[in-house]
Amino acid sequence: MKEFIQNLPKAELHLHIEGTLEPEMMFELAQRNDIDLPYESVSQVKEAYNFEDLESFLDIYYQGSQVLQQERDFYDLTWAYLEKAASQNVRHTEIFFDPQSHTDRGIAFETAYRGIYQALQDGKAKFGISSQLILSFLRHLSQDEAFATLKQALPYKDTMVAVGLDSAEQGNPPSKFKEVFDKARAEGFLTVAHAGEEGPPEYIWEAIDLLKVSRIDHGVRSMEDPKLLDYLVEKQIPLTVCPLSNVELKVFDSMAKHNLKQLLNLGICATVNSDDPSYFGGYIAENYQAAQSALDLSRQEIYQLAKNSFQASFLPPESKHKLITEVDEYCGLAIET
Ligand code: ADE
Ligand code: ZN
Repeated sequence: MKEFIQNLPKAELHLHIEGTLEPEMMFELAQRNDIDLPYESVSQVKEAYNFEDLESFLDIYYQGSQVLQQERDFYDLTWAYLEKAASQNVRHTEIFFDPQSHTDRGIAFETAYRGIYQALQDGKAKFGISSQLILSFLRHLSQDEAFATLKQALPYKDTMVAVGLDSAEQGNPPSKFKEVFDKARAEGFLTVAHAGEEGPPEYIWEAIDLLKVSRIDHGVRSMEDPKLLDYLVEKQIPLTVCPLSNVELKVFDSMAKHNLKQLLNLGICATVNSDDPSYFGGYIAENYQAAQSALDLSRQEIYQLAKNSFQASFLPPESKHKLITEVDEYCGLAIET
């Protein structure tokens, strides 16, 4: 099963590039940029990754991002992720970046954007991994600040598929960002939003009704609202679920209590993703693996998750069809042998 998962063609749709910063690279970049870290060693960093909830994670995550200073740092970060993704047969990836966590500390929007974008271009050439960028607004900041970020992104809008909404969910509902999402859609962006990770099902409804999202990031608290579940199934609005993240941030007490299998078996277009892999102990294959063993997912269910990942992507229909055919062939062969 481990090998089956590793080699399975898959898409990753919920990945914060800043969340792929491995402790080793954190030290390397701190040295390169002459930055003092509050840690003595890699093992001390790992010890600090012991989270009580989303907020306690975000403090450490934003602190880690401070070592990212030059275009080259963003390039190296993204390249390291792509190497890992290629080794796990990720064929397509849709990557969030948080410009505000960089511009707010004096790093130009272009510095982050260009480094990430160039690595994605090179990743397509070297590994054949297609990719899309999603500009994510930090929801603990104001809508005006999100508008300013959107304005900075407009010259590059043809290279970004969507806008998203992340950071501290509780108390920062999607409704706070309705107008900036309206503007983003008018400019041609698709929309997604983190909702129902820690926040209530009402936030998922708001993301759908007010922000007109194509997908919900996380969305696991939809389980508390039967009408919402019916709606997600009927409209096939995908959920980008992140199993290891949810356990690390105490959304579920253990992987055995995760609702991924239930969501999938209700007919929801659930997908598996890694969120912030360097902080939560695993990339996409480890997420599939952890969910598979704790929830006893069958090969058929793993196959469905991989198909959903392409179905839920922002790829054009022909590419979706081609990649889903690859999944069909891979699973057909793998199940027979
Ligand atoms: N930023 C990075 N990871 C996040 C998550 N899981 N939820 C909200 N904001 C995030
Ligand atoms: Zn996330």
